Amino acid sequence: MTHLIQQAAFISAPQDIGTVVPCFIRPLSLKGPLRRALLHISALGMYAAAIDGARVGRFVFAPGWTEYDSRLQFQTYDVTAQAAEGSVLTVMVGEGWWGGRMGWDGQKARRRTALIAALQLEYEDGRCENILTDASWRAATTPILSSSLYDGETVDLCAPSRDLGPAKVLDLDRSILIPQEGEEVREMLTLSPAQELTTPKGERVLDFGQNLTGYVRMRARGARGEQVQLSFAEVLDREGNFYTENMRSAKNSILLTLNGEGEIEYAPTFSFQGFRYVRLDQCPQCMSAQDFTAVVVHSAMEQTGRFTCGVDLVNQLYQNILWGQRGNFLDVPTDCPQRDERLGWTGDAQVFARTASYNFRVDRFFTKWLHDLNAAQDAQGRIPHVIPNVLGPEAVASAAWADVCTIVPWQLYLTYGQLHFLTDQFDSARKWVDYMHRAGSSEFLWLDGTHFGDWLGLDAPECSYKGSTDESLIAGAFFALSTGNLIKMGRALGKDMSEYASLLSSVRAAWQARYVAADGRLTSDTQTAYALALAFDLVEDKAPFAARLAQKIRENGDRLQTGFVGTPYLLRALSENGYTDLAYTLLLQKEFPSWLFPVTLGATTMWEHWDGLKADGSMWSPDMNSFNHYAYGAVGEWLFNVCAGIQPDPENPGFRRIVFAPQPDVRMGRVSASIQTERGLVASAWAYDGDGSIRYTFTVPQGCTACARIGGKTVELEPGTHVL
Ligand code: BGC
Repeated sequence: MTHLIQQAAFISAPQDIGTVVPCFIRPLSLKGPLRRALLHISALGMYAAAIDGARVGRFVFAPGWTEYDSRLQFQTYDVTAQAAEGSVLTVMVGEGWWGGRMGWDGQKARRRTALIAALQLEYEDGRCENILTDASWRAATTPILSSSLYDGETVDLCAPSRDLGPAKVLDLDRSILIPQEGEEVREMLTLSPAQELTTPKGERVLDFGQNLTGYVRMRARGARGEQVQLSFAEVLDREGNFYTENMRSAKNSILLTLNGEGEIEYAPTFSFQGFRYVRLDQCPQCMSAQDFTAVVVHSAMEQTGRFTCGVDLVNQLYQNILWGQRGNFLDVPTDCPQRDERLGWTGDAQVFARTASYNFRVDRFFTKWLHDLNAAQDAQGRIPHVIPNVLGPEAVASAAWADVCTIVPWQLYLTYGQLHFLTDQFDSARKWVDYMHRAGSSEFLWLDGTHFGDWLGLDAPECSYKGSTDESLIAGAFFALSTGNLIKMGRALGKDMSEYASLLSSVRAAWQARYVAADGRLTSDTQTAYALALAFDLVEDKAPFAARLAQKIRENGDRLQTGFVGTPYLLRALSENGYTDLAYTLLLQKEFPSWLFPVTLGATTMWEHWDGLKADGSMWSPDMNSFNHYAYGAVGEWLFNVCAGIQPDPENPGFRRIVFAPQPDVRMGRVSASIQTERGLVASAWAYDGDGSIRYTFTVPQGCTACARIGGKTVELEPGTHVL
């Protein structure tokens, strides 16, 4: 079935105008009063549509980022109130994710942008008319001389708009157009500068008090030719100067040349930055800090999770986790929002997805991205490192990264109870498990391949980003995890999974035979290896492995050593095996490396490295030092599931049944957490009374069943609020 927009043509600027952003123009002459006007629109690039200068819709960076070769979203806006006789529809098209360079090595080169649109008019008298993009639209230049995701925007208001003549019609595949699936990206919050400072170097800097993703909106005024130039940074260096080295090749520069015709309001149209600090490189005398506002931009997901406790630093940690999600859920789940990456790294997404699904409502967000994952998976079943895949066909199939295809759908099914996550993703998950079964030189292990290992693990050998845990041990562990997830997905869909159940037994047996040494330890005697063995049920008698994990942590001064792969499972491996006390010790650890160490240094987001900034103010190497990387925020899952004890029940997903199993610790004082589910608010709180006893409060929404597991006893709970 085709949609009206597929009858329109892709159009582009008729001549090469370099990096200048083109505008496509269509005056509207109407046949009478309108009953309804709908604008269906998309672009290879990013579009911003306006009628008589007033923006259409609230979606910024539309049409969003998808696996463009096969999937391009279009949006539909009701423009009945805006379209009128004599009004003019204008659409600017910037390069965006489609047209711009992407990747730190320019893995995806620049390419030509194009617009496609259909304005569907229904008149009061019943007549209909469709205005489609074609050669009758005119093209013109705009004052936007360049606009790039990584590099920022250059606008010259003195540059007159130049008519380029009729738009050029391109014969491009229109079958890739699909209706909007994801969440719209919108302006979600604004912040005023918390302070203005002058650095030791004499730089004039605005501090917004929060590391964030978005852009700066300004009220700009000045003489013709005067310029406002902004640079962006996440942190200041040891001396207190503006620090941009960690942005790598991303220029992140805004340059606006004024035309002297009064005050204007300006924000970039096709570019965003990750920043807390803004340097005013150039600024007319008459403008002050009050003229600048930070606009926080992300996918318009509703916040559903709340967590507070008696420890201020942990409360700030939870806020940082939320900000990590706001900053990196910008149409696709990204590793970071500031340097020359901002890519849909699968490993980061799988690590954080469980926490993400409690913090915010991400079902629509992930529905779209998982469809892109299906589209990007290759014929062999291999999943790319990043989705959409801009790194090329060889950047595929790393253990723990590619397993996103079983981990994320299963978690979304648990959190939201929507069966489509399983029906949509089952084949993809099966193909991936089958690939692992075929891959490598051993049937039930995965002994070769190219993997990221325990990325950024602190037990990394000199000059390596990969922790010291054997990569094949990790690959085998995730082979088992994904096979297990596939079995759960299949069984929930009523499929016979006996073949995969026997595969899983063989994988486990092979894993034990190879990685459990004769002395009962693991061949990689690392925190990550034990965490995976315990959390993925790879060993039968867990007690000695848990004891060894605990011993290793204690020997390391009650501190973790894990990277991207081990960290998300570390606290769970402890609390499920009798070491809850030690799990809290790790959570509450303030010395490096720990979750709270960055918080003690004033972090307002999650950092890529536990020591992105060191206690003496020096930095981790600038080549990989993001201050907004959500991966280690995955500890949020433990805060909800174990600390507050709110757990979904796999047999009754979507919190139709809730298991409350909090594991309190006196050092936390009190805890209060809730998740706004589709069925209502699920809440759990506990607090230590003066006499050392604990008071628990649980809230069960109407229509749900629940039980509380406390002190070895299980009690059924009716809907309502219960104090135990
Ligand atoms: C990204 C990571 C990602 C990794 C792959 C980095 O450059 O920022 O978060 O998962 O590459 O190992």
